[in-house]
Amino acid sequence: MESRQSELNSAFLQIIRSREKVLSRDVLQGYVEDFLTKKEIYLESDRRFGAPQYFFDRTSLAQKADQFDAACSRHLDRYQIFYAMKSNSFRRIIDHITSCGMGLDVSSGHELSMALATGCQKIIFSGPGKTDEELGLAISHPQQVVLLMDSPGELSRLAKLVGQRVRSKGEIRVGIRVQNVQGGIWNKFGIPLFDVTKTFINALSIKGIDPCGIQFHTSWNLNPAAQVKMIDQIGSYIVRKMPEDISRRLKFIDIGGGFWPEHGEWLNAQNTDKGTLLAHVKPAFKFNKTHYIREARPIDYFLKKISWAISRPGNPLQGLEVWMEPGRWISTPVMHILLKVIDKKGSRIVITDGGINIMGWERPLTEFIPIINLSQPGLKELSTMVFGSLCTPHDVWGRSFFGTGIKVGDVLLVPDQGAYTYSLRQSFIKAKCRVVQYDGNCLEEVERQEY
Ligand SMILES: Cc1ncc(COP(=O)(O)O)c(C=O)c1O
Repeated sequence: MESRQSELNSAFLQIIRSREKVLSRDVLQGYVEDFLTKKEIYLESDRRFGAPQYFFDRTSLAQKADQFDAACSRHLDRYQIFYAMKSNSFRRIIDHITSCGMGLDVSSGHELSMALATGCQKIIFSGPGKTDEELGLAISHPQQVVLLMDSPGELSRLAKLVGQRVRSKGEIRVGIRVQNVQGGIWNKFGIPLFDVTKTFINALSIKGIDPCGIQFHTSWNLNPAAQVKMIDQIGSYIVRKMPEDISRRLKFIDIGGGFWPEHGEWLNAQNTDKGTLLAHVKPAFKFNKTHYIREARPIDYFLKKISWAISRPGNPLQGLEVWMEPGRWISTPVMHILLKVIDKKGSRIVITDGGINIMGWERPLTEFIPIINLSQPGLKELSTMVFGSLCTPHDVWGRSFFGTGIKVGDVLLVPDQGAYTYSLRQSFIKAKCRVVQYDGNCLEEVERQEY
């Protein structure tokens, strides 16, 4: 009991003493300036198609996909990239990804159907809670789909379904997902490492299944430490516990996604650990307006460290093809949101024509997202509550904007909102909004506003 109390005290003190790094004005203004250089195209998109809208920047997508691939090719001999469709499932993103030879990482029958409809030839199906129907769809496309097994129970359901197949269409390639190092609620995913050999032996006994890989996924990685730790643990487990006739069958190690975009995680004072604690203890506490940053490492650094970990002498993962499932690293800068100020209340409150259901979740409550006034451009950050149009006071886009002033009719840009927004959007009160594509030359409405 006493040790539990001292553990709690020390965690509490650690939070109280923590100091987050301040986000410098220069970095912030440079970021805003960059978007302001392109303001005419955003304004034209608003004039022609209206707000709110997702502004889909196709050139940015091509750049990010190329950059990720180039970084992989600098550090890895044999690799495959499977874009995590859940991070943004907009059809034109998926089409581009498949056209440049990448595969898709899907997590449901719905995503799998979309992936198959694009003609994608390399699909991995991972995630918990796969239904028999979803497994059935996967095994009817053995050439395209590799199934990543999340539990022994799922494997036995798969065995039944494979046994019921009328005609053999080829072996079902299967990987085993390993539980990751974070523990706690993360144990929801995968199979404990100590059970992996047993699961492989079970899989090998099922006719029609080819168990040939291992997968893990760690989330929210500002640096590659968690991925490297997993690679080390799996490598040493294989050396110590996996019979050679099984390890020889391994063809891939799938290191999942979770690569954090390079500009890092930006926070308001109330989003830091200390701020969150303070807000609970004293809800009326007035936070300062400083922004904070949790820095992220560049993608080259991730891949260098991952490659080193895999090729350490004696690591049995060395000869395997490395599979990756990046989502947000690719999709974050691919979409921006355009809003229009529809109402102003006093000098410090504006209401926009779109609610944060365009993002699908209350993202601005947990991080700092700069809002850029394209109609009155400027690098000064001015305090104003920028609300959405929903019937909840938590529908807040931000507490400030960059510009020289703000009035009804102004067009606002919420930049870099490509990840976990479009695929989470809801038609709550307001309809799902339109998507406008910019390919570097032309603007085109590619998905209409739903009414
Ligand atoms: C199994 C798996 N792979 C890949 C991803 C993509 O993660 P991210 O978008 O952080 O790269 C996720 C996200 O939840 C995931 O669960």
